[in-house]
Amino acid sequence: MVSYKELGLVNTREMFAKAIKGGYAIPAFNFNNMEQLQAIIKASAETKSPVILQVSKGARNYANQTLLRYMAQGAVEYAKELGWEHPQIVLHLDHGDSFELCKSCVDFGFSSVMIDASHLPYEENIALTKKVVDYAHQYDVTVEAELGVLAGVEDEVSSAVSHYTKPEEVVDFATRTGCDSLAISIGTSHGAYKFTPEQCTRDPKTGKLVPPPLAFDVLDAIMEQLPGFPIVLHGSSSVPQEYVDMINQYGGKLPDAVGIPEEQLRKASKSAVCKINIDSDSRLAFTAAVRKVFAEKPGEFDPRKYCGPARDLMEELYKHKIINVLGSDGKA
Ligand code: G3H
Ligand code: 13P
Ligand code: ZN
Repeated sequence: MVSYKELGLVNTREMFAKAIKGGYAIPAFNFNNMEQLQAIIKASAETKSPVILQVSKGARNYANQTLLRYMAQGAVEYAKELGWEHPQIVLHLDHGDSFELCKSCVDFGFSSVMIDASHLPYEENIALTKKVVDYAHQYDVTVEAELGVLAGVEDEVSSAVSHYTKPEEVVDFATRTGCDSLAISIGTSHGAYKFTPEQCTRDPKTGKLVPPPLAFDVLDAIMEQLPGFPIVLHGSSSVPQEYVDMINQYGGKLPDAVGIPEEQLRKASKSAVCKINIDSDSRLAFTAAVRKVFAEKPGEFDPRKYCGPARDLMEELYKHKIINVLGSDGKA
């Protein structure tokens, strides 16, 4: 058993309380590799933003949980080296799908876990979430739960349609499970194709897709039921068109990729939404930068020469999200 406290990590409790009061959101960035982690830590240290490092089940399988845990521990030291005196870094399990997986993360130094039982019937979601909460709270690890189902693919949990969170269920769910934060469904979804072209309109000038707005009425109704309770938005990449264009220009094929407009995320950040999950945008930045190097310098074969530019572009992206979208700069 390793406590995250020994690793210099923090849980989400105080972070979320401050974010709700201050009208900003904490960035939750997924990572699978060193370059992503370096970019996240550099961006957070330079902007003095609290940050959540997220590890999905897929990331765990790809990079190995042990290695990722030590990387997060190393990230705390790296942040200090960069001049961030008291780094506020959370190591979080993203979309945990079983008690055993959540327990293994709690036991292994994670400071926060998500149990995603949103695809199960309501009472089963409550029972599994409560079991994880009861275990995690013994070690002061915070727990995110999910109610409502996002469209698209949730890690290895798939759902073709979105079912908005029912505001009339949230008090009962939060009370009976004891969860620390609640991921809700109000129209976001995972990946780079958040809406079909049929769900969007087209900007006549640029020909780009304009997605339908998020269901802020559902968010308002949830906040009315659970005043001051930490709310989480998954699937919140904005799919920057400059990266999509760059990928397509340099031989990629991402037709009609579309995300959540940043103004809507900015608006959500000012409410009880205090954690915003971003993964796809980082993947797009990485891919765009690598494709550019490959297209312009076909003779290049030193990975540092294409992973380096990818890291720089991701750092720029993370800083932009922190400063211009979530408003978490200067809060740690
Ligand atoms: O919510 C899903 C995250 O983007 C993680 O995706 O399972 O491909 O690592 P992944
Ligand atoms: P995106 O695919 O929109 O980046 O969402 C990531 C996410 O929700 C991770 O849990
Ligand atoms: Zn997610």
